[in-house]
Amino acid sequence: MADETIEALLLEQRKFPPSEAFKKRAHVVGTHLYDEAHADYEAFWARQAEELVSWSQPWQTVCEWNPPFSKWFIGGQLNVAYNCLDRHVEAGRGGKVAIHWEGEPGDTRTITYAQLLDEVERFSNVLRGLGVTRGDRVNIYLPMIPEAVVAMLACARIGAAHSVVFGGFSSQALADRINDASAKVLVTADGGWRRGEVFALKPQADEALASTPSIEHVVVVRRGGNAVDMSAGRDHWYHELMARADERCAAEPMDSEQLLFLLYTSGTTGKPKGIMHTTGGYLTHVTYTHKYVFDLHPDSDVYWCTADVGWVTGHSYIVYGPLSNGATQVIYEGVPNFPGNDRLWSIVEKYGVTIFYTAPTAIRTFMKWGTQEPAKHDLSSLRVIGSVGEPINPEAWMWYRENIGRGDCPVVDTWWQTETGGIMISPLPGATTTKPGSATFPLPGVGAEVVDESGRTITKGGGYLTLTHPWPGMLRGIWGDPERYKETYWARFPGRYFAGDGAKLDDDGYLWLLGRVDDVMNVSGHRISTTEVESALVSHPSVAEAAVVGANDATTGQAIIAYVTLRGGAQATETDLRNHVAKEIGAIAKPKTIYFTPDLPKTRSGKIMRRLLRDVAEGRNLGDTTTLADASVVAELQSRAAQSTED
Ligand code: WT7
Repeated sequence: MADETIEALLLEQRKFPPSEAFKKRAHVVGTHLYDEAHADYEAFWARQAEELVSWSQPWQTVCEWNPPFSKWFIGGQLNVAYNCLDRHVEAGRGGKVAIHWEGEPGDTRTITYAQLLDEVERFSNVLRGLGVTRGDRVNIYLPMIPEAVVAMLACARIGAAHSVVFGGFSSQALADRINDASAKVLVTADGGWRRGEVFALKPQADEALASTPSIEHVVVVRRGGNAVDMSAGRDHWYHELMARADERCAAEPMDSEQLLFLLYTSGTTGKPKGIMHTTGGYLTHVTYTHKYVFDLHPDSDVYWCTADVGWVTGHSYIVYGPLSNGATQVIYEGVPNFPGNDRLWSIVEKYGVTIFYTAPTAIRTFMKWGTQEPAKHDLSSLRVIGSVGEPINPEAWMWYRENIGRGDCPVVDTWWQTETGGIMISPLPGATTTKPGSATFPLPGVGAEVVDESGRTITKGGGYLTLTHPWPGMLRGIWGDPERYKETYWARFPGRYFAGDGAKLDDDGYLWLLGRVDDVMNVSGHRISTTEVESALVSHPSVAEAAVVGANDATTGQAIIAYVTLRGGAQATETDLRNHVAKEIGAIAKPKTIYFTPDLPKTRSGKIMRRLLRDVAEGRNLGDTTTLADASVVAELQSRAAQSTED
């Protein structure tokens, strides 16, 4: 992030303490949770695990820490689906709404806890019937429909690990993830609704399936109604299998450290990492954070997180946290501007949403659309509003508070990652005085510190965000690659987890997240590695060389800018290459702009100078270019970048 931005953040002096009215009902006011966790974080997490999670067998050891590998609640047994469903039904809350589902075309489904349990039990039997057993992997490639939740919980019920792939990823990306996990079954749909049209999923899946030998069966949910090919013996309709499935399937106790899911995320190399999350610690972490960060009162709240289940936010704060807490939630299938720019606010009004959780990119888009959109609806039900996925600028934070939160809902800016499993740094809405743009403090039970280049702790100023001790929801590793796990997260600052983010501490000790410091971009809250896009570009037959950087963007946080050198005599347009990247990775990874250049700026030792390219893309004056092999390349690129901003 540019120095001016850091300066601007430090000038931010506004403070918002929780109101007396909010404090009256809040789970946490004051510092008691912080004090308790500070005294003994393991004992603190053990109390959360005991209070918030149901175990079929108690654990013997809270935490075993063999750096950098941790295990939590060892010896304990539990079933995640039991915690998310059965225990609420057994307690007499089977008639309570678990999911208000709203399809993009306006069709709806209301699903109670008892109904969701029935559906999950039957789908567990379907998976078993297809040969899935404890320890297997099941891939899920679905739109935002209730069957995505059902499929995930059915896996958890029988001890299979799921690997959900975001529906916007390409067939190539799907195939890579299926093969890395050696998944046995794929659960997909014919298609889903997006921006008023059906987008096809099964045809994409079919393309992937041509190169995924581990897949034995494919289950297809009917949603889009689009025509699909069904391969006899391999492909089955969800509704047909469900109609024949046995109704009851007991939740089997799992070891606390049983693999619950893999979720692939981009790293600094071209190959995505399969992040591993396990059972007891993860469930404890997401149940605890969902309850306290959002001040959830399950009897009166209606919660809504706008993420997709394909990302970790959907796993932790649509599926596992809210259902484990017995919440009532809204799930919406489509885009925020169909049929109009007020769709989300009409949903808030319709269901009386009280807790709303979204991303800064979305908030900045709402700002562009104007205050008249939320003003069309009664948003008075809202009481807590949250943000996640990227740094939120103070202006967007203030707009969110004033125009969505009526100037009186606490705003919780929550920092975490796929790897952390759950929220790590965030205000507690009844306890923390917030500042616009700051994620404030580590939650009780979490140790976070900012360190300098040499790993020394900083108490004021800028540096690198690190986590100082294990936590229950932490990743257990990278699937099939323990070395990469050590290297990526634990090598840079020995004894500490390095998140890859820059951060700053102000005079009052508040944390301000400053974005990634590695070759990972954050585009609309989605993590995409520069190397991944570069490999996609150079896999095009016309491309000789490519360099990709993330440049600051007013709406999407960062935008993908590519510099490409074509092979001698080869022809390719910007559109050709953008489409090629969409095909290789997915539309989310399409570069916003591609500059064609006869050469890329390199150091004398041949390294591409990315920082310099980022400066060019962001229109900054360049400092020292004396290490550059050929300075004229940069002058040329700069004049072209300037031209394109004038266009
Ligand atoms: C990266 C993790 C956490 C779920 C969604 C993204 C950035 C996330 C914040 C925040 C500033 C944030 C970081 C982090 N990030 N939340 N509140 N403030 N930055 O998960 O894809 O694993 O990405 O998102 O850079 O490292 P992810």
